[in-house]
Amino acid sequence: MMNMMKFEEIKRSALKAVESVSDTEKLEELRIKYLGRKGELTHILRGLKDLAIEEKRKVGPLVQKLKKEIEERIENKKRVLNTQYSLLNTSSLDITKPGKKIKTGHLHPLTIIQNQMREIFSSLNFSVVEGPEVETEYYNFDALNIPPDHPARDMWDTFWLRQDEIKNKKSKIKKDDKLSAESGKAKSSKLLLRTHTSPVQIRYMEKHEPPVQIIVPGRVFRYEATDASHEINFYQLEGLMVGSDISLANFKFIVEHFFKKFLGPDIDFRFRPSYFPFTEPSLEVDIKCKGKWLEVMGAGMVHPNVFRAVKYDPGKVQGFAFGVGIDRLAMIKYSIPDIRLFYSGDLRFIEQF
Ligand code: FA5
Repeated sequence: MMNMMKFEEIKRSALKAVESVSDTEKLEELRIKYLGRKGELTHILRGLKDLAIEEKRKVGPLVQKLKKEIEERIENKKRVLNTQYSLLNTSSLDITKPGKKIKTGHLHPLTIIQNQMREIFSSLNFSVVEGPEVETEYYNFDALNIPPDHPARDMWDTFWLRQDEIKNKKSKIKKDDKLSAESGKAKSSKLLLRTHTSPVQIRYMEKHEPPVQIIVPGRVFRYEATDASHEINFYQLEGLMVGSDISLANFKFIVEHFFKKFLGPDIDFRFRPSYFPFTEPSLEVDIKCKGKWLEVMGAGMVHPNVFRAVKYDPGKVQGFAFGVGIDRLAMIKYSIPDIRLFYSGDLRFIEQF
């Protein structure tokens, strides 16, 4: 009778040995060990003739199958090893040369800052919402209580888009217009690059019932001269919290918590009265940076007309909104003297982060 345990043992060790062998000489040694004239498997094959006919029929095919499998695996391995040898022997490959360091990229400082801001506001239970960078006049201005001939429009120097260039985008715009029309307000499909993230307040409230607690990070555009603290393209993070009794006290708490978490407990900041058509009262927040105040945020209590535009009842809900400049916060956090460095593509700058 054939010793099946021994057969299994040979099978296991032969396949494992072929798998792990790493040069052709050792592979040949293995071939001889298992399949050679005095090999372990050959020995078993020879012993088959002494078995009873019944058992011969049963185990014969098993042994033959294993023999074939080992032969095939040895052949495959030989091919793999030969390919490796021929690669190593090609003159263009010098395996003694030191390896080339592959430079890995990293996040842009503005993305790092934005992620940190998202995290702090998420921990305060704000949801993150986004909106389109190409916006309609209605969402950017009208619905935010800035009618067409209102001087407040001059607060935001706008990039208008020529209608014939944006024909293809028509279908999407139509859908938005329908929403605006439904809200009963004068609508406009004139397109522009959004000047602030505030239009997303309207988009969100049109589709959701209060209470609202969102932040909206995103890119905004202004047609204005650049200097150390002004870019034509920059990032804002909008905040909006609406409920039955949300007040400026809530705003103060949240903003203070955010600034201290983000810039450290010793941060020096001040609230200053201001004006925005979509908030009443309005204020701005400045942070002291190297002895000078830098304006970082506009804010206030949401104007009743904004609530009317989204069909909220201003007698029943109230809340605050703010828009903070992400670039300006990054400048303060990293002591960056000029906002234009963020968009310069200068590796000497970008590799410091
Ligand atoms: C606004 O854009 C208002 N939408 C903010 C707001 C939201 C008020 C909700 C009330 C309620 P303002 O134009 O001041 O406001 O811009 C807000 C912030 O964006 C500024 O405080 C500043 O940090 C940043 N910012 C404005 N213009 C630029 C610019 N050209 N370059 C870089 N950052 C800018």
